[in-house]
Amino acid sequence: MILETPPTGVNVPPEPGDPEDATPLSLSPEAMRELGYRAVDALVERWSTLDEGRPWNGASRSELDERLGAAVPAPEQGEGAAAALDAALTRILPVAARVDHPRFLAYIPSAPTWPSVLADFLAAGFNIFQGTWQGASGPGHVEVEVLEWFRSWVGMPAGTSGLFTSGGSAANALALVAARESALRRVADAESPFRPAVYFSDQAHSSLLRAARAAGIDADGIRILETGPDLRLDPDAVRRALTADLAAGFTPALVAASAGATNTGTIDPLGALADLCAEFDVHYHVDAAYGGFAVLDEGGRKALDGIGRADSVTLDPHKWLFQPFECGCLLVRDPTLLTRVFRVTPEYLQDTVQGEGEVNFGERGIQLTRSFRALKVWMSVRSFGLGAFRSAVTAGIELARASEERIRASAELEVVTPASLGIVVWQARTDADPEALNRRIQEVLAGEGTALLSSTRIHGRHALRLCILNPRLRRSDIEEIVARAEAVVREAGE
Ligand SMILES: Cc1ncc(COP(=O)(O)O)c(C=O)c1O
Repeated sequence: MILETPPTGVNVPPEPGDPEDATPLSLSPEAMRELGYRAVDALVERWSTLDEGRPWNGASRSELDERLGAAVPAPEQGEGAAAALDAALTRILPVAARVDHPRFLAYIPSAPTWPSVLADFLAAGFNIFQGTWQGASGPGHVEVEVLEWFRSWVGMPAGTSGLFTSGGSAANALALVAARESALRRVADAESPFRPAVYFSDQAHSSLLRAARAAGIDADGIRILETGPDLRLDPDAVRRALTADLAAGFTPALVAASAGATNTGTIDPLGALADLCAEFDVHYHVDAAYGGFAVLDEGGRKALDGIGRADSVTLDPHKWLFQPFECGCLLVRDPTLLTRVFRVTPEYLQDTVQGEGEVNFGERGIQLTRSFRALKVWMSVRSFGLGAFRSAVTAGIELARASEERIRASAELEVVTPASLGIVVWQARTDADPEALNRRIQEVLAGEGTALLSSTRIHGRHALRLCILNPRLRRSDIEEIVARAEAVVREAGE
């Protein structure tokens, strides 16, 4: 039976118990359609006018307290789904960074495809439980398939698999926990206490340090190796640390390389580190959350040579594969590394047996209840074809190079680190500390809505970053941004 709604209908919640099959939480099919169409219309409007607005539209807590108020405690009576939708669309969702705005060049932008957004909607609407094969066989088949795509793109051997995660941080954490556990098992019979050690550079993503702490690795087992002027993890420094630690009774559990580093896009020497890890028999992880999908570009693939030799690789489709948050991925050369740690089968899951080739993805990580993230990638790639993704990645790499050249030619600005996988680091040209001028550039460009830039420090020195991976960013945008930055420096000198 269909729940009848009055003409303005969708504003009014259904009367509990009225029609026989209505529950206090149901809406009529008409109301569901109308709300859904409204949501789609609002999204398409946002997407088609995104470039006209500003890349950032945040507000302070006190402003929002005043503007929005707060319904605390939660309202006992609903205001109706249409009113709630309108409030979300007009008052809440626009008050945020527009990470997909072409001139959002801060941190790591993300510019999802429309099919991937629809995939998230569908996965939620079909309420896919992707923890067991029994729970979602078709979706499980797609996750296996998309992991296989990724495996072949990064050049890992057949048999490699893994799982989709909420993001790169979760993938790094799973890799580190699995590697630690595997190291523990290797020395389980030894009489001396287990003292695991992990190795990465001072340019590695903070999620690795967080993962090491969460995995219970003592501070003296977390080796953050200093980089030199090239900002790369030096295999000789890793060798010295491994040798010293083995002599001191530590068990090396994992070496993590960056491909590329979040700060600068710099790529660690992946092949040399693979050789070293093989020599020392230590788990080799490549954190390619930022730059991994550059393998789709010919030059990017060469730059990332050696990535396929890793024991595990973190990828983040919600970065350079144009997917909405949350979409991360861990690939593991030997997937039993994950199941040996994470498979726990309690009595109440005894029916979730797997047939040949079937995967209970809940046994490869810490999430039992998980959504169908692989659908986003699958629908995007099937919609546009891999060639379109290659072109989009290549465009980002080339535009970053062109931006570097433009900054090099500037009298007011200078390059700090060259374009690498879409990131260029630069600063105001000055004999003094550039920090004040850099900050001024950031403030002016953000204030007038020209662009959102973020800053960083390179070996302690303040610098600005351009992170270029949005296919909607044009060369003319870069020209405008650089010209405005030059003008800010000139004005400051007058
Ligand atoms: C190199 C690298 N690793 C890991 C992460 C963490 O990924 P996420 O934010 O998806 O958890 C990031 C995010 O910026 C990153 O750039």
